[in-house]
Formats: sequence, structure tokens, C-alpha cells
Amino acid sequence: PKLSINSLFFLFSIYKYFVPLPPIYKSANQQINTMSLKQEIQKRRTFGIISHPDAGKTTLTEKLLLFGGAIQEAGAVKSNKIKKGATSDFMEIERQRGISVATSVLAFNYKEHKINILDTPGHKDFAEDTFRTLTAVDSVIVVIDVAKGVEEQTGKLVEVCRMRNIPMIVFINKLDREGKDAFDLLDEVEQKLGLKVTPLSFPIGIGYDFKGIYNIWEKNINLFSGDSRKNIEETIAFNDINSPELERIISERSAANLRSDLELVYEVYPKFDREAYLNGEQQPVFFGSALNNFGVRELLDCFVEIAPSPRPKASEERIVNPDEPSFTGFVFKIHANMDPNHRDRLAFVKIVSGTFERNKPYLHTRLGKKLKFSSPNAFFAEKKEVVDISYAGDIVGLHDTGNFKIGDTLTEGEMLHFKGIPSFSPEHFRYINNADPLKSKQLEKGIDQLMDEGVAQLFKLDFNGRKVIGTVGALQYEVIQYRLEHEYGAKCSYENFPIYKACWVEAPENPKDPEYLDFLRVKQKFLARDKQNQLVFLADSAFSIEMVKQKYPNLKLHFTSEY
Ligand code: G4P
Repeated sequence: PKLSINSLFFLFSIYKYFVPLPPIYKSANQQINTMSLKQEIQKRRTFGIISHPDAGKTTLTEKLLLFGGAIQEAGAVKSNKIKKGATSDFMEIERQRGISVATSVLAFNYKEHKINILDTPGHKDFAEDTFRTLTAVDSVIVVIDVAKGVEEQTGKLVEVCRMRNIPMIVFINKLDREGKDAFDLLDEVEQKLGLKVTPLSFPIGIGYDFKGIYNIWEKNINLFSGDSRKNIEETIAFNDINSPELERIISERSAANLRSDLELVYEVYPKFDREAYLNGEQQPVFFGSALNNFGVRELLDCFVEIAPSPRPKASEERIVNPDEPSFTGFVFKIHANMDPNHRDRLAFVKIVSGTFERNKPYLHTRLGKKLKFSSPNAFFAEKKEVVDISYAGDIVGLHDTGNFKIGDTLTEGEMLHFKGIPSFSPEHFRYINNADPLKSKQLEKGIDQLMDEGVAQLFKLDFNGRKVIGTVGALQYEVIQYRLEHEYGAKCSYENFPIYKACWVEAPENPKDPEYLDFLRVKQKFLARDKQNQLVFLADSAFSIEMVKQKYPNLKLHFTSEY
């Protein structure tokens, strides 16, 4: 039988519903979208700069922004550190909060890459904030002062990164000043920070004698002019370090020193291995001077090349890959509005996979409800603006009237819960009392919201219901008191509660376990609940923890809330 041309058309038009089409016929949009989604994700570098205060984090950030053309002149990024001795200056605290909103995320484009720098406060009183931000970065740059070497705060932050295998690049700063010998410093970094370093650049002289840097990565020499205003640096390609040219450029003595230094470098340190770097097993090191904008371009060029694009993230249910088309993300930071007339807050969401779109309903998995966001903020340099679409790796700021807590997950519908924002034991503990009985509702609400923001941790004593605030630094008590009064119209006072550490108590499989029951009875006055209603033992000394461990060998105590 002959088929008419019409029936042929008809057959062909229904054929596609029965037979899988070759990719070329597949929804073109869908293909292009997955393509561009992948490309967008590959472009992204989301990272944090960590350091001890004063090592040069702010200066380095600013120079990176200058390279990205995001700011025009030096001095535009304000230092967001709390000046020493400012602990009782409330205006200083407010100023700090204002600036830290502005610098929470600094984004710029550089050589086809979209770079997101997440702010990580160096001040130790804000260490929890920094720990949480480190759950949202894909890599970090560690800044070390050449004269001071490895300092306390650097140690703590690097340890957190090491635990999570976050790729790290080390930048040794202030080479224009007298400092430690480069090899001694590399040793110190290995020993004190437990890293396995490999220098990708090496200084030629130091301090007064500082001539420049040999770039092992690009095989060239950067000469230092010492004139920070001009920001001129001369780069000379130098493949063969044994060429007699070297003497002419940096003097005979410096040339001899550089050659023997490099010989030692090649002998002692392993070759750079990108896989090892990405797995957190090897850390490349750069030298430079952020203030003089020296060695910064080299750092940035290498960084965009080797640093990871957004990485997969574990949720309780499964591992989520960034290039999955469905959106997922989690809240790692919440910032209260500075304006007391607008009580909303900004929740910072790291996009783990897919794209986040304006006005699309997303599932808040803890509350089990769908939310829409009409004005999500993206961050660009120091500005934030409303955007229609953001990609995995980016941070969006969502206006929130109280739905979010730190750690919350958003998805397109899948029930996922991202892992890994633990609380650590606070260092300070105080009872919080209501100082204005007419405002107890306001106080309650204020405390609740401040704890959701992660300003401090709240514990409720089991036996009398009293509330205890635990913080990392003493400064937080003043911040809380000030904010309760100015944002919630409530007054509070504190009372000392001499506690050494909070230990999270893991319940045994058998809740009637006699050892566990005895512990609960004997330590009744020291037991409390945290915000997640987990049982916490507030130990008054290291000795009492030891005693508990001896007396109840099967009891499981933990120093973080996630175990
Ligand atoms: P931080 O964010 O890590 O706390 O450090 P920040 O960049 O604020 O730098 C701390 C101090 O170190 C600043 O001086 C800054 O100018 C200086 N600095 C940064 N990089 C270099 C460098 O490569 N060489 C030298 N010599 N100094 C550097 P300050 O006097 O505390 O502040 P300011 O008055 O200069 O702003």
C-alpha cells in the first residue's frame, strides 16, 4: 500500500514520541542549558582568604579586586577588622557589622573567570563565623607575615581546612620587610600547620636586599622596583637559570644565591602535583608583597588556573554534584539588617548545584515549605544587586523574615539536608537574665533570632530552665546586649557561670542503660539542651571531664555538635 505524503508527515510527527531521538533533536534549549551550566560552573572560583589579623588579608583582597578591575584605586576596600582595644566601643561594633555586610562576598571577573571571595573575619571572637564560612568555600589562600611566621589564628583556621581537605595556597607576604629566611619559614609552615608545601615562587633576597621573585610556575623573574606608587614591575622570561644574563640583571651575589636556593628547592620539595593540591595533600607557596602589589598577579594567575571550580558536597542523603541541573544550596551566614526600621535579615546561600532563579519556588527542607524570592541579591565588588539567575559556586543573599537558620537547605523539591556546619564548644558562658520584665516576649524573640544568626549559642539548663549564653569571645556579650536593646527593645543582664567546656552527650542505644542513667542523675545540675534539643554536659573543669570519662567509660562525650 502506498502512503500519502500527509500520512508520512503524520507518522513522522508521532514517531518522536515513541523512539528516543538522537541528541541533535533533543530540546535544543535543554542541551544548550546543560552546556552553559557546565561552562558557567567551570568559570567559578569561590574561595576565602584566611590569616591572623594584620598579616595583610585586606590589602591582598584589595589588590585582587584591582586586578579584576572591580575597584579603581587602592584604599577602596575598608578594613573590617576590629581595632585593638575597641571592645567596649559600640559604634565600632556597628561599623564593623556595616562593613562586613558590604564585604561578605566580593565578586569580580578575571580572565574569563568569575571570582567570589568570601570574607572570613580574622578576629578570634568571630572565629565561629569564619568556621561556618569555610563550609562554603571551594579553596582558600592562607596569608602569612614573613616576619611573624605562623601565628595562632592561622593555625586554628588551617586546621579546620585540613580536616575538610580544602585545597590551600600559601602566600607569604611583606617581603619588602626584614623577615625570616624563606627555608626556615617553609619549615615552620610544614611543622606548625601540618602542611606539605611546594614553593611555586622564590624570593631573591629579603627586606632591604629584596630584588624580586623567581617564578617557578611561569619560569620568569619579577624585578621589584620598590616604588609602590608606580606599581611597575618588570617581568623577564627566564627559562634557564644558569644563563649568564642572570648576573647582569640581579648582581653576581644574588644570582649565585638564587641558583643555590633553587637547587635546594628542587631537591627538597616535591614537584607541584595538581591532584595532590586538589585533595588537600600538597600546598603550593607564593611569596610577595601585597602592599606593593608585588607577586600578586602571579598568585592570581596561578590561582585561576589550578584552584578548583565548585566541588561536590555531601548531604545526609547523597553527594550533590555542582552540574546537576536542579538547584540546591545551603545557608552559611545570616546577617541582620542594620536599619532598625526593617527587621528583615539577609541569609547568605551558597549554591551547590544548578541555577538559582528569581521568583521560582524553592523547598525549605527543614520547614517543609516552598518559598519564593523576588529580590535575591548577588554580590559584585562591594555592591549588591538583584539578579535573575545565579550559578553553582555563587552566593545569593536572600531577604528573610525569620525562616532561616544557619545550615538550612533549599532545593527544587528533593528532601536533602547538607551536612557540615557543626558548633564547637564555646569558651565563655554566662546566664542571661531579663532586666525589663515588661519586655520578656521581645527578649525571647531577640535571643531566638540572634542565635539563629549564629552570634552565640544558647543552652537551657535541664533542672531549672535557666538560659545560658555561650560565646567564643567576650565581645559577643556586648554585641548581644546592644542589639537586644536597639533592635528588639529588650534589656538583659548577665551573671557569671564558670563553665570550662560544653560536651555533647551521645545517647546510648538503650536509653535505660544504668551507667547513662547514673550520669544523668549525678550531673543533673550541669546538663542542658542546645537549640537542636541535643543533650549537653556543661563541665566546670577539665578535671571533671576526666572524672566523668573514668567513672562512665561507655559514655560518649563530643566536643562538637556534629558527631
Ligand atoms: P589584615 O586584613 O590581615 O588584618 O591586614 P591588613 O591588610 O589590614 O594589613 C595590616 C598592615 O600590614 C597594614 O598596615 C598594611 O598596610 C600592612 N601591609 C600589608 N601588606 C604589606 C606588605 O606587603 N608590606 C608591608 N610593609 N606592609 C604590608 P597598617 O599600618 O596596620 O594599616 P594602614 O594604616 O596601612 O592601613
